[in-house]
Amino acid sequence: MPCFYTLALIVLFLCMNTIVSSRDKKLLGGRNLSIGDKGDLVTNLPGQPQADFKHYAGYVIVNETNGRSLFYWFFEAVTKPEEKPLLLWLNGGPGCSSVGYGATQEIGPFLVDTDGKGLKFNNFSWNREANLLFLESPVGVGFSYSNTTSEYKQLGDDFTANDTYTFLHKWFLKFPSYRTRALYIGGESYGGHFVPQLAEVILDRNKDPSLHIDLKGILVGNPETSYAEDWWGMIDYAWSHAVISDETHKLLKTNCEFKSSEDILSKDDVCNKGLDEMFKQYNEIDIYSLYTPTCLANKGISKPMQKVMKRSSNKDMIPKVMGGYDPCLDDYAKIFYNRPDVQKALHASDGHNLKNWSICNDDIFHDWAQSKRSIIPIYKKLIPTGLRIWLYSGDTDGRVPVLSTRYSINLLGLPITKPWSPWYNEKQVSGWYQEYKGLTFATFRGAGHDVPTFKPSNSLVFFSSFLAGQSLPSIR
Ligand SMILES: *[C@@H]1O[C@H](CO)[C@@H](O)[C@H](O)[C@H]1NC(C)=O
Ligand SMILES: *[C@@H]1O[C@H](CO)[C@@H](O)[C@H](O)[C@H]1NC(C)=O
Ligand SMILES: *[C@@H]1O[C@H](CO)[C@@H](O)[C@H](O)[C@H]1NC(C)=O
Ligand SMILES: *[C@@H]1O[C@H](CO)[C@@H](O)[C@H](O)[C@H]1NC(C)=O
Ligand SMILES: *[C@@H]1O[C@H](CO)[C@@H](O)[C@H](O)[C@H]1NC(C)=O
Ligand SMILES: *[C@@H]1O[C@H](CO)[C@@H](O)[C@H](O)[C@H]1NC(C)=O
Repeated sequence: MPCFYTLALIVLFLCMNTIVSSRDKKLLGGRNLSIGDKGDLVTNLPGQPQADFKHYAGYVIVNETNGRSLFYWFFEAVTKPEEKPLLLWLNGGPGCSSVGYGATQEIGPFLVDTDGKGLKFNNFSWNREANLLFLESPVGVGFSYSNTTSEYKQLGDDFTANDTYTFLHKWFLKFPSYRTRALYIGGESYGGHFVPQLAEVILDRNKDPSLHIDLKGILVGNPETSYAEDWWGMIDYAWSHAVISDETHKLLKTNCEFKSSEDILSKDDVCNKGLDEMFKQYNEIDIYSLYTPTCLANKGISKPMQKVMKRSSNKDMIPKVMGGYDPCLDDYAKIFYNRPDVQKALHASDGHNLKNWSICNDDIFHDWAQSKRSIIPIYKKLIPTGLRIWLYSGDTDGRVPVLSTRYSINLLGLPITKPWSPWYNEKQVSGWYQEYKGLTFATFRGAGHDVPTFKPSNSLVFFSSFLAGQSLPSIR
């Protein structure tokens, strides 16, 4: 039965797509391809700075039977959108919003202003280089929903990859000129799962030429990648950055064992005590950005570390990832996206029956039913296909620290093609990078978990190099 439905759905995609794209070509002579979906065009977003590019927001139904609908926000490139590639951006959590983080705190053209009343223009928006598609995924995140609410307890990595894949094909029906466009996928933190997993689904399904999507590359920042390596990176980083004592570090080193198949957190009391001690220290600062102030304004709302502690009861998950340079900013975003006029302008609601938007959905996070212990096997599958794969890391993040990513990359045992060297922006060292056969790794000096929030100009330079497939700027 499911097979039949899937097949029917695919056939439907294809038929509609052929119709739309041939009509598209006829009408437009293959030139003005960026027609978009008029109904989703955003025209009067409150507090929006003036902009010369178009943007669209709305829903794409990914499953009619159960009523699953995903919310997207799409920004055309500032200039020549028809010539630029498409970037799909996925934030992590799981359960966190790409609208709240990616679009309005990191790489999008409009950033939530600190008064919660409006948006300010981001001069380093990545839509200078690409068309940007932000997706709130899976259902239950941000404005995305399922009418079959029991599904919220069944969500997991594979479920998400499948729905996101369906989303892409259905979104192409709304925006047919992007159907054959070069596609890149980017994301952060738990996006370290979502991004390679979606890439894998796309490449698998690409074997059917009629479903072909022109996926060119992926990039992930401070990505959760491999259970044991992520934990050891966090522990060693906390010690080497003077967050925990030599004694706590030694206790953790001798008592913890992060086997990929077992739950250490409930297995070993001594290890648990050590981790409690580590999180107790991190509770005092912002684990996602060690050297910036924490949000003291709204203590009642932002308590990310408490969420981390609750995590330990679920054996399949490691602690929650939230982020932001200004830890108060999450609260401003909440105010903004729950305004009736904002929801109406973004086609998220009619402005009366409001959606209850939050930047991260804790229930989704806690109930996450399936999480791959390691993404390494997916990288081993993706690398030989020649896909462009870039990993980057803000080096002041304690949550998915630069060490975790280096330990994970080391597991791949790739030959080094360009040794460790600095890269530059505005005559300063922006970070270091190393190129491997099939993978590039770069650091951002002094950036926290959500790199573009901390280093907007450097990030844009980095993204341009990525798109061009060129090494990072290596001369001052
Ligand atoms: C809709 O989702 C349900 C539950 O995940 C699944 O069983 C069904 O096959 C899906 N329907 C289609 C048409 O994909
Ligand atoms: C492209 O199409 C849009 C909407 O139909 C129109 O406003 C615009 O002028 C067109 N641009 C060009 C270069 O033809
Ligand atoms: C979900 O239910 C609401 C209320 O019945 C309905 O308006 C909406 O279209 C449904 N969504 C989907 C994706 O089926
Ligand atoms: C934005 O960037 C452009 C191009 O780099 C530059 O010309 C302009 O002065 C910048 N504007 C602001 C307000 O920084
Ligand atoms: C995802 O899709 C694949 C291929 O259609 C299917 O085999 C798998 O069961 C799906 N997984 C989930 C969790 O929906
Ligand atoms: C909105 O969701 C939050 C949890 O994220 C909940 O505490 C609150 O009661 C909800 N508000 C409404 C109006 O449903």
